[in-house]
Amino acid sequence: MTAEFLQFGIGRWVHILAGILWVGLLYYFNFVQADALKAAQADGSAAGIAKHVAPRALFYFRWAAVVTWLAGAMMLGAKLDDAFLFKEKAYIPIGVGAWLGTIMFFNVFALIWPNQKKILGLVPATEGEKAKARRVAFLASRVNLMLSMPMIFFMSGSGGLFRTPFFH
Ligand code: HEM
Repeated sequence: MTAEFLQFGIGRWVHILAGILWVGLLYYFNFVQADALKAAQADGSAAGIAKHVAPRALFYFRWAAVVTWLAGAMMLGAKLDDAFLFKEKAYIPIGVGAWLGTIMFFNVFALIWPNQKKILGLVPATEGEKAKARRVAFLASRVNLMLSMPMIFFMSGSGGLFRTPFFH
């Protein structure tokens, strides 16, 4: 197996698989769980989601973000600063996509996860702190929802700079 195939063949495959899981769970949180939790709180059935569903979903959400970022950075390899610093015109689209993905990554670990831990009672928090945490986690998740759309546009529109023919 050539190094090129590992970096751009397997790397792209792992990047896209983990990206599907990360963004898939992001859409689940925004389009399904947020409203389901509100409805479940209204009829007193929220405990199951908070205890059994949300922690599992957040576990795969966090680690899919880590694998997506690392596999993306691996594909960039020596071109990482060309992309992130827009050094070459050809790398601007993937650079914009990578920055959007990196801001989303920051939101997951700096805002969403620490506040979700308070909300789910995984770390001690007063009711006031939980209410503030709900607002911050909700807004950060909505921001990531919005960022995911241009991010995937730039990922898929980056022109295959980092492609390798699978079978040659
Ligand atoms: C939620 C986050 C992300 C998702 C869902 C995602 C998804 C994708 C997808 C679907 C492709 C393949 C596009 C194609 O084959 O046409 C791709 C390519 C790529 N992604 Fe990402 N990506 C994400 C974040 C990142 C980040 C943070 C980086 C860099 C650190 C990155 C670097 C790359 C690179 C280098 C390519 C190859 C582009 C090319 O061949 O021209 N991605 N990404």
